[in-house]
Amino acid sequence: MIHETASFILEQLGTYRPQTLIILGSGLGGLGEEIKNPIYIDYKDIPHWPQSTVSGHKGRLIAGLLEDKEVLCMQGRFHLYEGHAPETIKMVMSVFKIIGIKNLVVTNAAGSLKQEMAPSSIMLITDHINFCGRNPLVGNNDENFGPRFPVMANAYTKEYQEKIRAIALQENISLHSGTYLMVLGPNFETAAEIRAFQILGADAVGMSTVPEVLCGVWCGMKILGLSVITNYGTGMIQEFHGHSETLQQANSAAGNLTKLVRRFIKEI
Ligand code: HPA
Repeated sequence: MIHETASFILEQLGTYRPQTLIILGSGLGGLGEEIKNPIYIDYKDIPHWPQSTVSGHKGRLIAGLLEDKEVLCMQGRFHLYEGHAPETIKMVMSVFKIIGIKNLVVTNAAGSLKQEMAPSSIMLITDHINFCGRNPLVGNNDENFGPRFPVMANAYTKEYQEKIRAIALQENISLHSGTYLMVLGPNFETAAEIRAFQILGADAVGMSTVPEVLCGVWCGMKILGLSVITNYGTGMIQEFHGHSETLQQANSAAGNLTKLVRRFIKEI
């Protein structure tokens, strides 16, 4: 099944053989529009492919050139809160492995757990806490892809962290860094949960990314993770927050994120 899916995507790619996959988070789809000579592959046309259902997420792959480098973009990702089975993420990432993806750039929208990290900041993900109670790697393990017990000591590739920090410095973009905690969602957290996650040592909270990263590490991809901070965690300030605020703030930080990712792609 995954080979049929991979063959279909390879056929659609024509002569493109991208080695870097960029996953675009909520409100960050704009980067996809900057890809030159694009080929679009709608999720609905890919055999055995899941469909995404969230507003602000489009649902297609875009292949093409960014800074003259071949890239593949997911415009629309699969969240567990949509009801996707965790193993769906493993299937998707396995397909990307088969078609030759070696680098994974994951972006997301996240809530801040630190006062000094205000909405529309960007946070480099240096580590994560899987707090969603699910794991896409549960089940049979195909050793051709990766080990039964993958090691997460260097999940977010150090070399890429250093590279993006240097780029941010040169571009004069302030870049926070920290630990991303994944909740299952779909609800935003209670104030008590936010206080608990602060005590646990997390810096940002969101509903994605961890499943893709687990699978990426498992099958040997090098990973860069960036969060766009769209709001403070519940209870940290007085204002109400919700999905519309998430999309608004993501759009306002998207310019800086795009700059960082473009230069990163150019340099790897
Ligand atoms: N919590 C969980 N996920 C999120 C948030 C949040 O505050 N903001 C954006 N995604």
